[in-house]
Amino acid sequence: MRKPLVAGNWKMNKTVEQATLLVADMLPGLEAVKTVDRVLCPPFTSLMVVSGMLAGTEVGLGSQNLHWEDSGAYTGEISPLMVKEFCKYVIIGHSERRAYFGETDETVNLKVKAAFANDLLPIICVGETLEEFEAGKTEDVVAGQVKRGFDGIDSDTAQKLIVAYEPIWAIGTGKASSPEQANDIIKNVVRKNLASLFGVGTAEKIRILYGGSVKSNNANEFFSQSDIDGGLIGGASLKPEDFTKIVEAAA
Ligand code: 13P
Repeated sequence: MRKPLVAGNWKMNKTVEQATLLVADMLPGLEAVKTVDRVLCPPFTSLMVVSGMLAGTEVGLGSQNLHWEDSGAYTGEISPLMVKEFCKYVIIGHSERRAYFGETDETVNLKVKAAFANDLLPIICVGETLEEFEAGKTEDVVAGQVKRGFDGIDSDTAQKLIVAYEPIWAIGTGKASSPEQANDIIKNVVRKNLASLFGVGTAEKIRILYGGSVKSNNANEFFSQSDIDGGLIGGASLKPEDFTKIVEAAA
């Protein structure tokens, strides 16, 4: 059985002081739900202070990005060695990074390999735009992202992948995909392509999350689907009560 995982992607929100207050507020509720892997992904500047607050708890910490090189002349970037000082997880290839910062399936692939080389668990985002969705291209787009993003990874390592299917038109819009529709893509496109890359046994072990306007009042419907193993949560992860309810729904 796949253990559910719920990760909060804070995006570019919260100063260190605000992060400290937010974590203090939500930690007791999160700690109580042991049957779900819980992950917080604050901005880089707050990783150190939040890692201190999470020490001794089972709540994991993730960064929102990393570079694939260990060090060098890459102004503004952050290396896997720096991320792993504090984090167990790392989000890779979020649609906002692909849309605004030029990330491609090829850079995603380099980053996934760098994450594994540094014992980080990557949470890799895939998903189609509204235009692609309306043109009926969802399957082609998502299959291509999976194949190119995970090229050259061996099956043993691939078991540790965490994939997040986030239809771009559902992110921050309040327009979630229907749970059945999301499950269909996750099962028949994402997991199926993982199976052709790594074999059915491995694909069945890989956790696949849904992301895009998951809230406390719809989380249950998503998490009760056969192939949805948790969520990648944006806006609602900044609200302690909502985020805790979403984690409880995954349990
Ligand atoms: P929202 O939950 O705000 O729609 O964001 C989803 C997301 O992009 C998580 O990575």
